[in-house]
Amino acid sequence: MFPDVLAADAALIQSFLDAELADRADQPVIHAMRYALQGGKRLRGFLVMEGARLHGLAPEVSVIAAAAIEAMHAYSLIHDDLPCMDDDDLRRGQPTVHVKWDEATAVLAGDALQTLAFELLSREALGPAERRVALLGSMARAAGAGGMVLGQALDIAAETAAVPLTLDQITELQAGKTGALIRWSAEAGAHLAGADPSALGRYATALGLAFQIADDILDVEGDAEKAGKRLQKDAHAGKATFVSILGLEGARARARALVEQAEAALAGYGDGAERLRQAARFVIARDS
Ligand code: IPE
Ligand code: IPE
Ligand code: MG
Ligand code: MG
Ligand code: MG
Repeated sequence: MFPDVLAADAALIQSFLDAELADRADQPVIHAMRYALQGGKRLRGFLVMEGARLHGLAPEVSVIAAAAIEAMHAYSLIHDDLPCMDDDDLRRGQPTVHVKWDEATAVLAGDALQTLAFELLSREALGPAERRVALLGSMARAAGAGGMVLGQALDIAAETAAVPLTLDQITELQAGKTGALIRWSAEAGAHLAGADPSALGRYATALGLAFQIADDILDVEGDAEKAGKRLQKDAHAGKATFVSILGLEGARARARALVEQAEAALAGYGDGAERLRQAARFVIARDS
């Protein structure tokens, strides 16, 4: 079962992160970082580790990059939940960081998780320096002003836009806010192995969109208990989502088509990519 596969990599990533933060200072910001790194599906970390396996890399190596992307993702969630952003008080079934501590701690824990991601990617154990530099550069681009941050800015701007966004504009928004980190994750293993990442890149572009459509559908009809976060907020906040433009059925159909595209992109890998195909199907069937 795919959830067991995901859980196995999640456990490796959690142990790595726990060890990493174990002897850092006894400070609220460090406690908040540890707190924000607990739980979650670890889909991005799994994509790193599975892409690496596909290219013959050991989990002991790829777990470093998997932990890096999960640190980056955890930072994005802390800031996404802030009162000036989505203003959420629950994340992964727990109070959000700014509720549990305060806003300053949340901002700083997010900042430090972002730099932790880069620190981890600089580790020698990840391989030759030029590959590490390439991964660092691509992560900076994926997370930055042309990637996740751009998507988040477009997402917030859309709340008060005078004219509803078009399908192309929503696709661009989602490709940034969610797609960029997912794509980095899926391509990382190929980059680490010095292999061609283009098939994994096509897989991830479709997967990232399907993932965000599923998140938008969950917001409408999910179970908040299972999701571990407040739902039914997007429409009220005026968010531009695939559901807002295509309706629930249209969004579901689009997500299914994207999963087929994602699976098709892996054809060249044969049976070796079966777990990545399972991941694509999981992404739209999940309830959290
Ligand atoms: C939630 O991401 C935020 C989005 C990009 C939609 P996940 O659904 O991957 O959150 P966790 O990591 O499992 O908590
Ligand atoms: C969050 O998207 C994307 C990032 C954190 C970059 P959402 O705002 O839709 O995520 P949830 O629904 O709060 O998890
Ligand atoms: Mg948001
Ligand atoms: Mg949010
Ligand atoms: Mg959402």
